[in-house]
Amino acid sequence: MVSFNKYLLLPLIISQALATSIFAAEEQSPLKSNTLPGEKPIPGGSPVSTCDVLEKQLLTIDLVELSPEQPQRGANLTVNAIGHLSADVAEGAYVDVDVRYGYIKLISQTYDLCSEVGEVDLECPLSKGEYKLTKTVEIPNEVPPGRYVVYARAYTKDDEFIACITATVVFTVDSLWKIIG
Ligand SMILES: *[C@@H]1O[C@H](CO)[C@@H](O)[C@H](O)[C@H]1NC(C)=O
Repeated sequence: MVSFNKYLLLPLIISQALATSIFAAEEQSPLKSNTLPGEKPIPGGSPVSTCDVLEKQLLTIDLVELSPEQPQRGANLTVNAIGHLSADVAEGAYVDVDVRYGYIKLISQTYDLCSEVGEVDLECPLSKGEYKLTKTVEIPNEVPPGRYVVYARAYTKDDEFIACITATVVFTVDSLWKIIG
């Protein structure tokens, strides 16, 4: 029933290496202010945060902006992101992605980072320095409404920590009513 193609998550995967982060929604403000310990909002007003912040990470994310601010099913979502890598990232880097839908663990999977960065026209090795990215993805209508919590943690081949990014996505039923109504 849940057609949760990995390319829905691709933006997040990419974000691990590239300082972009796509798959997120503007949260209700009570939730938004409720950042968990070890998490820190990224400038730009999106609900995307860094996590495990007490651990040194190779990627610093300076900005994440989403347009529209509230991602909707059946619509395009554009993400602008700026970040910088403090070291090169070579082949063999990977990203562990966990997605919870409500209380259900929907995805718990490891992806090859260098295979994924091709989606934003980059290739490994990623050299250290600044990255500015813009990426548009279409969010399918078929994504079930509800609350999604995503964690993505990226590491180099030698298990150096690249980044931890988390986002909470809330898809409401509103857009569904538009489609069937
Ligand atoms: C998303 O953007 C693409 C490329 O511009 C366009 O072809 C597509 O119709 C857009 N989708 C929606 C739902 O607006």
